[in-house]
Amino acid sequence: MAREKTLIIGNWKMNLNVHDASLYLNRLDKLVKIHRNVEVVIAPTMLALQTLSLQVNLRQIKLAAQNFYWRDHGAYTGEVSANQLRGLVQYDLVGHSERRHVFNESDKDTRAKVQAAIRNGIRPILCVGETAGERAGNETKDVLYDQLIGGLANITSEELDQVVIAYEPVWAIGTGQNAVPADVTYAIRSIREQIRHLYGAKAAETAQVLYGGSVTADSASGYLSLPDVDGLLIGGASLDEHAFSNIIEKAHVAKK
Ligand code: PGA
Repeated sequence: MAREKTLIIGNWKMNLNVHDASLYLNRLDKLVKIHRNVEVVIAPTMLALQTLSLQVNLRQIKLAAQNFYWRDHGAYTGEVSANQLRGLVQYDLVGHSERRHVFNESDKDTRAKVQAAIRNGIRPILCVGETAGERAGNETKDVLYDQLIGGLANITSEELDQVVIAYEPVWAIGTGQNAVPADVTYAIRSIREQIRHLYGAKAAETAQVLYGGSVTADSASGYLSLPDVDGLLIGGASLDEHAFSNIIEKAHVAKK
């Protein structure tokens, strides 16, 4: 356990409109207790950030953007910058597999976004993970190394402290086929090994690394009990406030 707080992040993806997001937060408010050892983050649709930022109690729940463009301002029709998200969110997802694989975002885009988030005082959650094919070809470690080098280029060790890394095997996202604890430990140790190469032993130890991919209220405790796991990134199960708050309670108990 590298950090004092376990991070539990709910990624709602392209679900819930502004109205439903606000109602959901109302219900979640009543279910989530404030625990000193757990940090809860939700990533709603970009459209709901303004409303939720006024509604949310930041001591209880923080907000994340699911995406943004890496330049701060300018002629980029349809885009939203990290600079515009300042004050609305505390975290930003970067390099999620759906961004990489559906929208063809490269390591270069990812790296520019990690830098933009840090430049704007927002903590980037850098997602990395191998596809089923890469896993079958025993390439997991190499893929993670490449994505970390790609995503963290130009990031100093002081800045690294602001970065959260999420190990999300592509084959486990939204498939119900979650990684077994041994897979997660292997991958997260590989991530820490690469951080050690890039930033030294202390950084490797204190880096905040999460697991994500088909986590449910039933499987959460198994991951949270792994010493290398500092939290969870949850998609589908975060859309059910009971499942999500259940996972938060499990995080509180697991890392007491
Ligand atoms: P999932 O999504 O929990 O639905 O697999 C995880 C994610 O995409 O972050």
